[in-house]
This record gives sequence, C-alpha cells and structure tokens, in this order.
Amino acid sequence: MDKQGNTVILGVETSCDETSAAVLVNGRELKSHIISSQIKTHQKYGGVVPEIASREHCLHIRNVVSQALTEAGTGFQDLSAIAVTYGPGLVGSLLVGVAAAKAMAYAANLPLIGVNHLEGHIYANFLEHRDLEFPLLALLVSGGHTNLILFRDHLDYEVLGHTRDDAAGEAFDKVARTLGLGYPGGPYIQKAAEMGNPNAFDFPRAMLEPGSLDFSFSGLKSAVLNTLNTAKMKGEVLNTNDLAASFQDAVVDVLVKKALRAIEQLESSTALKTFALAGGVAANSRLRESLEKELDKCKIRFVYPSPALCTDNGAMIAIAGYYRFIAGDYASWKLNAVPGLTI
Ligand code: KG4
Ligand code: ZN
Repeated sequence: MDKQGNTVILGVETSCDETSAAVLVNGRELKSHIISSQIKTHQKYGGVVPEIASREHCLHIRNVVSQALTEAGTGFQDLSAIAVTYGPGLVGSLLVGVAAAKAMAYAANLPLIGVNHLEGHIYANFLEHRDLEFPLLALLVSGGHTNLILFRDHLDYEVLGHTRDDAAGEAFDKVARTLGLGYPGGPYIQKAAEMGNPNAFDFPRAMLEPGSLDFSFSGLKSAVLNTLNTAKMKGEVLNTNDLAASFQDAVVDVLVKKALRAIEQLESSTALKTFALAGGVAANSRLRESLEKELDKCKIRFVYPSPALCTDNGAMIAIAGYYRFIAGDYASWKLNAVPGLTI
C-alpha cells in the first residue's frame, strides 16, 4: 500500500514470448505498462522456440520490471502485492516470471499472488470497462485455448465449453504458416482476408453434437491444407487472400454461433448482463464486428479489450491479481510454474 492508502499491484507476465510488467492502482489506474516482445526473435523460426523464449525472459525481466516501477513513480515500498502468471504456458518461460516475482516479494516483504493467465485475459476487459456487470459470459480465444466461461461474480466461474483439439489461435497460426504468411498468423490472415472473398471456398464449420458448447478447429485446418495440396497436385495456384478470407469466416462463424448457442441455453436460468471477448484472437476485427452485430439483437452489453490488451501483457495480470488480492487469496512461497494449468 502506498502513503495515500492506495492498493498498488505490480503484475508480471512471462508465460510465452512477451516479457511484461505493469503497475496498477486500486484496480483502476494503469500507472505503467511495459511489454518487451520477442516476436522478431521467433519469427525466423516460424513459431516460438521455448529455449530461446526462456533465455530472452531472463535477459529482459529485470529491465522490464524496473522500467515499469520507474514510469509509475513507484518503489517496492509503495506496492501492496506482486502478481505473477504461474500457468498455463511454456514451463521455462513461466519459471522466469515466477522466480523473479517470488524473489522480489520475499525481499520486499510483500504478498505474492499467483494468477492464471487465462483469467488474466478475461480480466483485461475490466481495465477499460470498469462497470461491467455480472452474470458475464466470456469467450476466450487465444493461441492455446478456446473457452466459453460463465462468470457469476468476480473469480466465481464455470467453464461451459472448451476446445477438443486445436485452439482458434493455433488454427490461425497453422493455416498462416501453410499459406506462407508470417508469424503469429492471426494478424496476417486478417490482413490477407481483407482483400479476399470469404465465399470463395466452402470450408467446414464444426458445430459438434446438438447443444454442445465445445469447439473443434482441426477439421477446418485440415480442410484448408487438403484444398491447397489438391490444387498443387493439379498444378493450380489458389488465391491466398480468398483462402484466408474463407478460413477466417469459418472460424468466426463457429465462434459466433457457439456464443449465441450459449446465450440461448442460459436464457431461462441466467439474466446475462455482459458478454466479454478475450485473448489474442479477440483482436480480430471480423470477429468483433460479427459478434457486435449479433449481440446487439440480444441486448447484452458487448465488450472487448483494445488490441494491445488482447495479446499477452502484464496489465491483465495486475488486474486479475488485484481481485485475488482483495479476496485475500495469496500464494505461498511454494508457488511453482504449472504449464498445463486449466481454467
Ligand atoms: O492470447 P495470446 O496472445 O497468447 C496465448 O495466450 O495463447 O494469443 C495469441 C494468438 C495467436 O495465435 C495469434 O495468431 C492470435 O492470437 N491473434 C489473432 C489476431 N491477433 C493475434 N488471431 C486472429 N486475428 C488477429 N487479429
Ligand atoms: Zn495469452
């Protein structure tokens, strides 16, 4: 706590290829937010190389944290707690953040808060929209996860659906790689799709069993690969922009339909107030527009974070950590990285 009695949280994120730290006051005011991205380093390999990622975190964590504290005009003595991502993610990457946060919290005699990265993505919405009401339905679409989650209150939630194979972001990345676009694939597919025809290819939309809120994107990914391979064998050249647009529309279609299916199923028992989109794929403008259009008809408030807060960042960890802090949910010194942590 600082001299004015404010709750000041330092959030630390190192689960994948972003080293990030942020200082958040009273769960509202973002005093600083530093993100050191490794994308350029991994781009030449077409994906994240875990060993390189951990080494990069080791190199940058100190500077990122001290820059965040300096920019916020905060010292360790002003902090109320240190929040850190402990999973899911790459084990070596997570360990760097967890070890750093533990060392800082121990040395400064501060509480340590362990944050689930996936909760962090959803809580990113609370950074920009402070008056969000519950019940809240969240659609989390990241590189490794696709979930529909019902929040009845802060930190009180139930997972309604999850992916049975590839996550939405993973499908974007794999298809982009096959099309020879860059890494990470999502933004490149979006850009190519803007110049393509979404009706050029009729790709499958896996809706699974009637009523199911689970997701499956591996069939769609294979359909894109098969279309490309068949064309190659015939000596045909397909239009990349059309492929990207048709693929993107198939993903968006499934996500929107599943979201509407969940809303319909909850209708009789739960008066939903908010629908929150979260995770890296939440930056996709086609997905935002389609959800906006459909949710407008349902009269449920629709929110999503600004693009910089959709992908991995320390601010979302600071805000999720803030709610854990006020709930008194502190971690012990035994806190460890949990790469397969679920929500
Ligand atoms: O949430 P995130 O930063 O990392 C994980 O926790 O997994 O999500 C990264 C994912 C990548 O798969 C990336 O391709 C995707 O988010 N992504 C997008 C867009 N921007 C990032 N997917 C579609 N459209 C975008 N504009
Ligand atoms: Zn993430």
